[in-house]
Amino acid sequence: MATEQEHELELELDPSLPCCRNLLSAILAMEPSECLISHARACGGGLITEQVQQFIWDHCLSTPGDFHAPYLKNFVKKLIWQVEFDHGYVLDQLYELYAQYMTSFKDDSFSKRDARICKRISFLFPDGCSELLSCPPSRELVFPLQCSLNMLEGDTGCSIWPSSLFLSELILSHPELFSNKSCFEIGSGVGLVGLCLAHVKASKVTLTDGDLSTLANMKFNLELNNLNAETDTSQRNKDPSTVQCLYLPWESASESQLQDIMPDVVMGADVIYDPVCLPHLVRVLTILLNRMICGECTSCKRLSPNGRDENGERNYKDASDRSEDRCKAVNKDGCDGRSKEAPVAYIACVVRNVETFNYFLSLADQAKLDIMDLTDSLKPVNLLQYMQSYNQTGVRLLRITCSHTIRQV
Ligand SMILES: C[S@@+](CC[C@H](N)C(=O)[O-])C[C@H]1O[C@@H](n2cnc3c(N)ncnc32)[C@H](O)[C@@H]1O
Repeated sequence: MATEQEHELELELDPSLPCCRNLLSAILAMEPSECLISHARACGGGLITEQVQQFIWDHCLSTPGDFHAPYLKNFVKKLIWQVEFDHGYVLDQLYELYAQYMTSFKDDSFSKRDARICKRISFLFPDGCSELLSCPPSRELVFPLQCSLNMLEGDTGCSIWPSSLFLSELILSHPELFSNKSCFEIGSGVGLVGLCLAHVKASKVTLTDGDLSTLANMKFNLELNNLNAETDTSQRNKDPSTVQCLYLPWESASESQLQDIMPDVVMGADVIYDPVCLPHLVRVLTILLNRMICGECTSCKRLSPNGRDENGERNYKDASDRSEDRCKAVNKDGCDGRSKEAPVAYIACVVRNVETFNYFLSLADQAKLDIMDLTDSLKPVNLLQYMQSYNQTGVRLLRITCSHTIRQV
């Protein structure tokens, strides 16, 4: 006959319960151990019961697969410590696993700062979200992403920053802003925003970065998520599973290269932080956004930035002539009138340094860019509630077009 303890363990936790989904998603995203412990407690009504331990064992520890072993070791250590602290019963298999980890890894193996890890970012659609076009039947969208443990690797582009989590939530919450639009991202990092854009069926997704190792990691991530990374700009590949990946340092991006892109939407996550780069960033945004729409919208006109030629002379005519040629080419190629709308940029940022942020605003103002702060008016659904390391309210969202100003903080 089964003992009471065995009977309790037979009553497995249901993985579709919100608390269980939160716990598993946090482990997959490699959230800090404290976050996992608080989710584990939530599953057990405040205690990490044997049922909760069994659930963790069954879903993560018994077949760790490609989990990062030093990360799991650290988690198992904290888990055992917490259960012992509560005077609870620790499952034998947890002690045995920890003993195995102790003999396999030294404590410093997690601190190899150049190590690559695979985080799985799960967007969890809450009840009531199923009418959202981006919501899959399972109400869960998971993207594996290779990242670095070193925040600075790849000029910071091999880590996932909060603003890209924010923009991803925005895309999935408001797919209508991006679906069937040509979307272009600057400073794309690991490529998460691009994966969300492809998911909501943007007509074209172009990701760029100015760091070559970041670009290589981004391409790896696209392929990991069954998308084709295309690097040849001369190809007009209409395959929806193709994402263009371009090397685009803001300092050296040429005007003609940028003018040829003609995106409907420009995206940027956590790109406002280095004052040295900001004049270049603003130049790039200005060229991308300053496509003027002609009345009939049979073609689009663009002025050179500030309407000046190489000698600094105002030269609207030449700029619009060149632009008309380019637009004819686009129309021949099947421009369906999407360019009726002026391009718009969505830039998400965490203001870490107010002076740097205000410097960006003043440069944008000089470049006659209009900035609207949408932080309080266009809030995405919180699809990452399990991720305690991410604070959606800490991210600001700017909408930038070519002509209103934002009050400085
Ligand atoms: C803080 S990371 C943000 C990465 C990603 N957008 C995210 O939010 O996770 C800044 C990104 O901008 C890129 N970047 C920085 N300066 C740049 C420049 N001058 N030209 C092009 N890319 C640049 C970096 O390589 C890096 O990928």
